[in-house]
Amino acid sequence: MKVVRNIAEIRSITSALKSSHKSIGLVPTMGALHQGHISLVEKSGQENDVCIVSIFVNPTQFDKKEDLINYPNTLTNDLEVLKKTTCQIVFIPDAEAIYNNAIISEEFSFDGLENEMEGKHRSGHFDGVGTIVKKLFELAQPTRAYFGEKDFQQLQIVKKLNSNENLGIEIIGCPIFRESDGLAMSSRNIRLTKTQRAEAPFIYQTLKTAVKKFETEDIASISQWVSSVFAKNTSLDLEYFEIANENTLKPNTSKNTNTKYRAFIAVFAGSVRLIDNISLQQQPNKP
Ligand code: PAJ
Repeated sequence: MKVVRNIAEIRSITSALKSSHKSIGLVPTMGALHQGHISLVEKSGQENDVCIVSIFVNPTQFDKKEDLINYPNTLTNDLEVLKKTTCQIVFIPDAEAIYNNAIISEEFSFDGLENEMEGKHRSGHFDGVGTIVKKLFELAQPTRAYFGEKDFQQLQIVKKLNSNENLGIEIIGCPIFRESDGLAMSSRNIRLTKTQRAEAPFIYQTLKTAVKKFETEDIASISQWVSSVFAKNTSLDLEYFEIANENTLKPNTSKNTNTKYRAFIAVFAGSVRLIDNISLQQQPNKP
């Protein structure tokens, strides 16, 4: 496994791979790797000649300085973990270099996808994501790029970026990887206290119940029920719960037969912000 930190070097590696018609799979990450990330890496390795993983904590996508400062850094361990996977190249750029000394976001329009949910609650977040993903795509020149459904809105936005900018990359969405108690894996989970960690599976339990309720109840009553159960929970504060059209991400108040719906949730456990989502069209897998 090769570790590349230099922008010119990654450019020359990926250009050479392209010239020899090798397919490139890219998995962009911010490090603090867990099994969710690794599931993307393994898929990318299986489906491409070369798998590149990028590790970069992107400053422009953090709306709160505190969240950026507290973002976990486990680089030594990440490299050890990646060595045991199908990853051949790890790209670890320097912020000044990848941003060409101007650490600011490009402004994007993603046809309104950026104004819903995470976009509403994290100002400028998707401009930051769009900026870094576009830069990584330019450098890594991937045939396919892998993103988790854990960040479902991000996945839809990257698909939109790809089509708006005619990048011609295959964007592959990968299922949410969960702990055995149902908590969606996240780099932020290691910041949870023991009590918060014990309470956190409640998020997925609530989503699973919402799936059941969706068969018979209307959207307003499900939303009310979610608010009421979180109001009683002393460890977790609900930021939002929304049932939205999977493609437009617009919140829905009524159900149409031809629309795919998903429930989205954001919760604070102290200062740690956790997000999760679930398709409402199918029974969730165990647990
Ligand atoms: P990060 O949070 O490190 O996640 C990297 C990728 O792993 C994302 O596509 C994310 O959706 C996926 N992922 C995270 N947890 C997952 C889980 N439990 N199951 C499946 N996939 C999971 O998302 C980012 O970084 C950044 O915004 C990035 C795209 C790298 C741009 O900076």
